Amino acid sequence: MNSRDSEHIIAQLTEKEGYETTDDMPSADLILINTCSVREKPVSKLFSELGVFNKKKKEGAKIGVCGCTASHLGEEIIKRAPYVNFVLGARNVSKITEVLHKDKAVEVDINYDESEFAFDDFRTSPYKAFINISIGCDKACTYCIVPKTRGDEISIPDALILREAKRAVDNGAKEVFLLGQNVNNYGRRFSGEHEKVNFSELLRRLSKIDKLERIRFTSPHPFHMDDEFIEEFASNPKICKSMHMPLQSGSTKVLKDMKRGYTKEWFLDRVEKLRSMCPEVSISTDIIVAFPGESDEDFEDTLDVMRKVRFDQIFSFKYSPRPETEAEHFTNVVDEDVASFRLTTLQNLHTDILDEKNAAQLSKTYRVYFEDLNKDYFVSGRSDNNLVIKVKGSDELLGKFKDVKITTIGRTIFTGEVVG
Ligand code: 5AD
Ligand code: SF4
Repeated sequence: MNSRDSEHIIAQLTEKEGYETTDDMPSADLILINTCSVREKPVSKLFSELGVFNKKKKEGAKIGVCGCTASHLGEEIIKRAPYVNFVLGARNVSKITEVLHKDKAVEVDINYDESEFAFDDFRTSPYKAFINISIGCDKACTYCIVPKTRGDEISIPDALILREAKRAVDNGAKEVFLLGQNVNNYGRRFSGEHEKVNFSELLRRLSKIDKLERIRFTSPHPFHMDDEFIEEFASNPKICKSMHMPLQSGSTKVLKDMKRGYTKEWFLDRVEKLRSMCPEVSISTDIIVAFPGESDEDFEDTLDVMRKVRFDQIFSFKYSPRPETEAEHFTNVVDEDVASFRLTTLQNLHTDILDEKNAAQLSKTYRVYFEDLNKDYFVSGRSDNNLVIKVKGSDELLGKFKDVKITTIGRTIFTGEVVG
């Protein structure tokens, strides 16, 4: 999501203000930092990075802080780092061309509605287009700062999404990647009058675009994984068979404390339904360990779900208290060493599962869409079910689909050879 926000910012700056991007910070006229605030670490990193940028920037260069930390700290950022020229919140991206010209501007209104703003076009990759389908988040997970930085959820009108997808495809992209905090809650609220379109219907409409071959999305919410959604996912050949299902915890009690809206049993039921309709699906997840009040038994439930589901990829975190969240005030904090032990236990279990799963991939053949040219004469891409696979080759492979047989197993990247 932040990557797409950055593309929007770059689009506005290049089209309206004549900027070009550079990787050479000391020669830049403008330095922008797009920040995350989901956990505490990136926030403290922001101020140390700002100090470095201020020292190394050229005379007169401006510094802007964008994103979720901008939303939540606002003018505090300029108080702590007075050389910062402006602060632009995660829900005010379209105002980049305004704040640029106002010294010490702070635009962080989380009620600002930019769901229908027509951003100019800039894409980091010509092969795959990130497309926002909603802004904000209507949930109130007790650990999460996002509703406070990105505001209420508003769906982007489907006509705009379809237009953006068509334009990307006309420019050569064969894959679109739909983005939203809760993509499968799409259509719950639009800014203006809009016909009723849910996420399954949006997927059906998108898949009618000729020459669009692959659709991916993140993140769906387990609570909204109804049968219609799973059936559309399984039966629509353009939808990549890779599902992110953020579990957060395997304990029904902890899920309740987190206000996630589902139980361990519901999650397992959805996985079963998904796998019964779509056996080849790969499933990834997010897990938080050591949420306040998480007992050994609760954590054992998380391990139990891990053993049952055997996720293909996990993103796992120690709970990090965030300001303006409900859980910030929970007092039944888990000891730091217990938290570290649980994180390591979870990650070790996952590594064992992955090693077993990966071993079975040897000699299998996947259709790979090549997107990246690596420095060492390898070109890499993804299979439909999201395996990262690289082959020896040149940029001629980029943007093409090829059948690849896996010859070497890695933990996160496989090596193969083109067979068709
Ligand atoms: N502490 C730890 N992890 C968090 N996440 C969100 N908020 C927190 C927090 N306070 C994790 C969740 C979410 C992912 C993007 O970040 O797992 O799905
Ligand atoms: Fe945060 Fe929950 Fe919204 Fe995800 S669904 S962004 S975890 S509040």
